[in-house]
Amino acid sequence: MTKESKKQNVADLDWSNLGFSYRDLPYSYHEDFKDGNWQNGGLTTASTLTLSEAAEDLHYGQEVFEGMKAYRRKDGGINLFRPDMNAKRFVNSAKRLLMEPYPEEKFVATVKAVVKANQEFVPPYGTGGALYIRPFMIGTQPLVGVAPSEEYQFHIYATPVGAYVKGLVPMPYVVSKYDRAAYAGTGQAKTAGNYAGSLFPSILAKKAGFADCLYLDPREHKYIDEFGGANFYGITKDGQFLTPKSNSILPSITKKSILEIAKELGLHPEETQLKVSELAKFSEAGAMGTAAVISPVGSLTYQDKKHVFYSETEPGPVTKKLYDALVGIQLGDRPAPQGWVQEV
Ligand code: PLP
Ligand code: COI
Repeated sequence: MTKESKKQNVADLDWSNLGFSYRDLPYSYHEDFKDGNWQNGGLTTASTLTLSEAAEDLHYGQEVFEGMKAYRRKDGGINLFRPDMNAKRFVNSAKRLLMEPYPEEKFVATVKAVVKANQEFVPPYGTGGALYIRPFMIGTQPLVGVAPSEEYQFHIYATPVGAYVKGLVPMPYVVSKYDRAAYAGTGQAKTAGNYAGSLFPSILAKKAGFADCLYLDPREHKYIDEFGGANFYGITKDGQFLTPKSNSILPSITKKSILEIAKELGLHPEETQLKVSELAKFSEAGAMGTAAVISPVGSLTYQDKKHVFYSETEPGPVTKKLYDALVGIQLGDRPAPQGWVQEV
């Protein structure tokens, strides 16, 4: 009943207008876990999976994933940005979902193998595109009762993408009245359920004319949490970089990196609770993530009041500086701190 989707022809790609969509590339990676061991994984041309109708993941959502990018350098080489951090978070997500952790070193090696095998699909330097890599793992044991699976499938696909939000264009956002994750729930894990729960509030926001919604802390609805697919930052009027400290947000690798970059830039970065009632103290705000890169937040609407940050049409100067520093490091144009960039 499954049908192989059509493989993407590299000559048909318009590198500067890729959008953020799935294309079926020549190679993926697949590995099964059963009888207590990972079994002979390898590259595969198959881009479909075969599952029991009772597979754990289909009913009870035992799934974790990662999102990372491979960047084409000016000299034609290919960089990965802190893949060891994705490997660590993948293990942490798996532990929270009570799944078999995938070994960190093997994770990085298999990601590199997928990028190498599909290297002609890493967009050229200067197009703004990158090869998006999606490692994921699902519980596949047939189970009727709610229980952790003892069998897993680990799989990686890659697909060339443009920016999730194109260019450094400020976008309007709205504070959602819904929650993305519970206070002591699965918000720190990169797992499907968090995203399934965000679909309804996100579509409501889009229908009302916003780019997406921003979630508050689920316990009090007083503090800023994060976006559905990116962490939040604000720049105070006296130039400090602030980003939420919360139990229910994803520990973003872009955020961790920007915290260090902001320190170098003298922005005295801090992770702290940010009251949504105090938006007026920020002169700039933005979203940070692998897909989002750094995307300026033009305005944020909260309780029917629109707060404009720097401008609704132009990115602020600190946002521009952070973007240039981050992207410069990822593309290999600027020196990277020790271990941040790994060549494929
Ligand atoms: N928050 C959520 C909910 C995400 O899905 C993502 C994307 O991975 C991020 C934050 C940003 O994390 P990272 O910078 O590691 O991509
Ligand atoms: C990523 O940035 O890698 C993500 O997973 C975000 C996703 C919503 C596209």
